[in-house]
Amino acid sequence: MKFFIDTADTAEIRDLAATGLLDGVTTNPSLVAKSGRDFIEVVQEICEIVSGPVSAEVAATDHETMLAEGKRLAGLAPNIAVKVPLTPDGLKTCKALSGEGTMVNVTLCFSPGQAILAAKAGATFVSPFVGRLDDISTPGMALIEDICRIYAQYPDFKTQVLVASIRHPMHVVEAARMGAHVSTMPPNVIRQLFAHPLTDKGLAAFLADWEKTGQSILGDDKKVRSVSHG
Ligand code: E4P
Repeated sequence: MKFFIDTADTAEIRDLAATGLLDGVTTNPSLVAKSGRDFIEVVQEICEIVSGPVSAEVAATDHETMLAEGKRLAGLAPNIAVKVPLTPDGLKTCKALSGEGTMVNVTLCFSPGQAILAAKAGATFVSPFVGRLDDISTPGMALIEDICRIYAQYPDFKTQVLVASIRHPMHVVEAARMGAHVSTMPPNVIRQLFAHPLTDKGLAAFLADWEKTGQSILGDDKKVRSVSHG
């Protein structure tokens, strides 16, 4: 499963990209507004940090303007995935951009029928929003299960299921069980995935016992140097 980070905060992106576990980035107009930065500038910076797909969303709702915006965004960097909403004009734009070899992420997907349309329009990614469905007492992960099953029936569907609006680590684990291709997560969820109290407890015990041995794997000189650099 690929891991994307769902933010326009470049400090967070740099920090988590350093783990080597980040495969891409998703942004949306709300995340850009939250960053307080110029859209084009921030997207360009993100594309320099991460070599995988970076989703940048169009702001228009009519096909012609969406297409023009999509082309401008796609011209910013080779790893841009133009994000379009799941509307008739959005899918028309998806078809046109995909036909030109541009990656497209079809966003705001809330039903299996919409996901079938996105695949037929040649989307690279479809983004079903699980958290927002959970918020209205509708099981978001059931939608992921449905879409994964449907897509598996049609090998000519190349669209990847990008699980979006993730709120907690179990969304990611369930998405992986279902075979979803990508999870896009807010930075805190990626950090939560690392955490387990038994890991912390076990590490503390190992370190305490190691200290008792009085040994150093790197030797005393190197140990001092690595500590002073840390
Ligand atoms: C990602 O592409 C979506 O825009 C994002 O995951 C939406 O998340 P939210 O429902 O937490 O705003």
